[in-house]
Amino acid sequence: MEFNLIVLPGDGVGPEVTAEAVKVLQAIGKRFGHNFNLHYELVGGVAIDETGVALAQDTLKICQGSDAVLLGAVGGPKWDDPQVKVRPEDGLLALRKRLGLFANLRPVKVFPVLVDATNLKPEVIKGVDFIFVRELTGGLYFGRPKRQWQTPRGRRAADTMAYSEQEIERIVRVGFELARGRRKKLVSVDKANVLESSRLWRQVAIEVAEEYPDVELEHMFVDACGMRLIQNPTYFDVVVTSNMFGDILSDEASMLAGSMGMLPSASLAGVPKEGVNIFGLYEPIHGSAPRRAGLNMANPIATILSVAMMLRYSFSLISEAGIIEAAVDEVLKEGYRTYDIMSEGKIKVGTKEMGDLVAKRIAG
Ligand code: IPM
Ligand code: MN
Repeated sequence: MEFNLIVLPGDGVGPEVTAEAVKVLQAIGKRFGHNFNLHYELVGGVAIDETGVALAQDTLKICQGSDAVLLGAVGGPKWDDPQVKVRPEDGLLALRKRLGLFANLRPVKVFPVLVDATNLKPEVIKGVDFIFVRELTGGLYFGRPKRQWQTPRGRRAADTMAYSEQEIERIVRVGFELARGRRKKLVSVDKANVLESSRLWRQVAIEVAEEYPDVELEHMFVDACGMRLIQNPTYFDVVVTSNMFGDILSDEASMLAGSMGMLPSASLAGVPKEGVNIFGLYEPIHGSAPRRAGLNMANPIATILSVAMMLRYSFSLISEAGIIEAAVDEVLKEGYRTYDIMSEGKIKVGTKEMGDLVAKRIAG
């Protein structure tokens, strides 16, 4: 099979981790006879430096014409001044919005061999395996008005948390569909005791639930969810929530897996269904980690696992995806660790070495 892929390495450790993920992808291509045509473009800070904008129109068009997009990370201190007009993050947000990537899937899975790599007690995190479904093109990130202005009594600023029932319906549906293929438990997270947009969210979730009598739906307030994630993370199967809540909760949840460097993500333009190729953008949930950039330190596993998600959701290469995941598992079992998941008695390796190890297991 043949696939056209756009690679947007971005800033900081982005280029390093995407290089390793590409290595792994090529190993899959070689073993199974697939052709992955790669085309590299700029996004984020590097795009600002080069073109003046975080995402050029042409880049967006090229992505629209592709089968999937692989992204590293964007941002860094160089472009962080709150006064500036263009930000690296604008490039990522524009990609999500313009490509219609409303469904952000963030699986949180604790590798058994990493149970001691976290701050939490092994008995609490053992067996954690759930998935966040984060709404990605609406809510507080995109609602209008969104601005700062001068008043006679000083400056004011506003962001708007707004959702239409259509936006809620389609993301909640993703949650139900995924739950159906798993343990059939969906937690919908909101703040319906305070926010009007959350009250609509909850109503729509209840309405959609009628079509999924086989899935158990529970509503949970976002603050309670933040607590439960630490107290009893194995409680969760599928969690569906808004853009802002999902951003915060998924970073929190990454600590269950030991490091942000372990968590992949898929941003999809449709409801995932077996046998259907959905256009998507794949990226690690971690950021550009500018202090680690260029040091061959960053953990490439999140990006490598993002490629596995790409194979699964955008290319319907289910067994190939499983082979990448198994290869990562094997390499961890053999004791190899990047600095972020390092523990006593293990073998410390760099970004490149980790990529090589995984690619080698795939080549067989
Ligand atoms: C993420 C990131 C982004 C977000 C930033 C870089 C805009 O934190 O993907 O979670 O807030 O969505
Ligand atoms: Mn985030």
